Amino acid sequence: MDHFDLNDGALHCDGVPLETIAAEVGTPVYVYSHATLVRHARVLKEALAALHDPLVAFAVKANPNPAVLATLAGEGLGADIVSIGEYRLARAAGMPPSTILFSGVGKDAAEMAEALAGDVLQFNLESVEEAHMLSVVAVAAGRTAQVAFRLNPDVDAGTHAKITTGNADNKFGIPASQALDAFRAARDLPGLEVTGVTVHIGSQLTRLDPLEAAFQRLGELISTLRADGFDLKIADLGGGLGVPYGPGQPEPPTPEAYGAMVARVTRDWNIRLAFEPGRLISGNAGVLLTRVVRVKPGEKHPWVIVDAAMNDLMRPALYDAYHHIAAVRPSGRRWTANVVGPVCESGDTFALAREMDAVAPGDLIVFRTAGAYGAAMSNGYNSRELTPEVLVKGDKWALVRRRINIADAAAAPVPSWL
Ligand code: LLP
Repeated sequence: MDHFDLNDGALHCDGVPLETIAAEVGTPVYVYSHATLVRHARVLKEALAALHDPLVAFAVKANPNPAVLATLAGEGLGADIVSIGEYRLARAAGMPPSTILFSGVGKDAAEMAEALAGDVLQFNLESVEEAHMLSVVAVAAGRTAQVAFRLNPDVDAGTHAKITTGNADNKFGIPASQALDAFRAARDLPGLEVTGVTVHIGSQLTRLDPLEAAFQRLGELISTLRADGFDLKIADLGGGLGVPYGPGQPEPPTPEAYGAMVARVTRDWNIRLAFEPGRLISGNAGVLLTRVVRVKPGEKHPWVIVDAAMNDLMRPALYDAYHHIAAVRPSGRRWTANVVGPVCESGDTFALAREMDAVAPGDLIVFRTAGAYGAAMSNGYNSRELTPEVLVKGDKWALVRRRINIADAAAAPVPSWL
């Protein structure tokens, strides 16, 4: 459930007409619903309530907007981070270090040192080489880093290849056959204390069985490690649960079904569980609001050219992702059309032969389910501006990221020798 609804014939976010935001901020613009973020955080926490003291750490990469993070911090969520930039955003949003998990295959020494000084809960390591670097950093700082290794369970997540992370041929984690040796190596390093295990097999998963298989393998690893004398405190089960993207798209399992599966599989683990949901929390809490620039006749279907492009929302170009498209003020007439942006690539296509509301130049439309990996992945290709973001709470709204021209913002002087 979300809070984007038709009211008097026009789409609103909570109590605010999207037309008002478009008129005042311009388009394209991302619009987030505070009530939906809060609802998703609560639904997930409720689904995990049977577990002992679960940690829900929002995957900041899905939506690093400071106002979004502050909203989630207010709901007691922590953060799963993959860079020191995300660490700083999470801390600034009020997420305590004891709720921060540091993931990622390529943390560098400077990032490790800053996160260690800030006392993050756990570094989720992806190689013995990384463990060695972190130990050196920790010893130099006179500290001990709490660490887990990420298991690569070699399970096919059944999602798009580019967002699959738990296959043997993905760069992530450590294979089960090498895991015990890796944990023993970390135990012998002076700057580290082994505190946990972790797994994450991919994103937008629409079935529970791959997750269950991965968790079972993690359970086997926990038993092996305990038999070897490890005192494990945290099992981090990653993120990945999919969300509904709209009509005709695979329906993901409910958070309740996910929680029940986790409770069943982990019944005898006697360990604190952590979760790293991203899309589940913010995906359906956001839309990308855009205006139709013109409609050009096509061979089969009209081309609807909007003022958003692949740089604003990369998911269709990168993963052939489906985003539901709706008119902000639907006329009731429907048609089949292609929806594209102004960027000079054929990949700048949001939808082909899409059955949708009929629209005309000047009309506003939304791409739904754009609150995760939308603005987060936007860029300035074609010298376009970075998309602004708005947060709506009840009948209040505010600009929470300005529209900026990154070519201007990043410009350095042209060298005099040129
Ligand atoms: N934990 C780790 C270690 C991750 O790598 C990710 C996502 C998450 C948690 C959160 O996954 P979620 O719950 O959001 O599925 N840009 C792609 C998605 C990339 C996901 C990367 N890792 C997309 O737009 O579909």
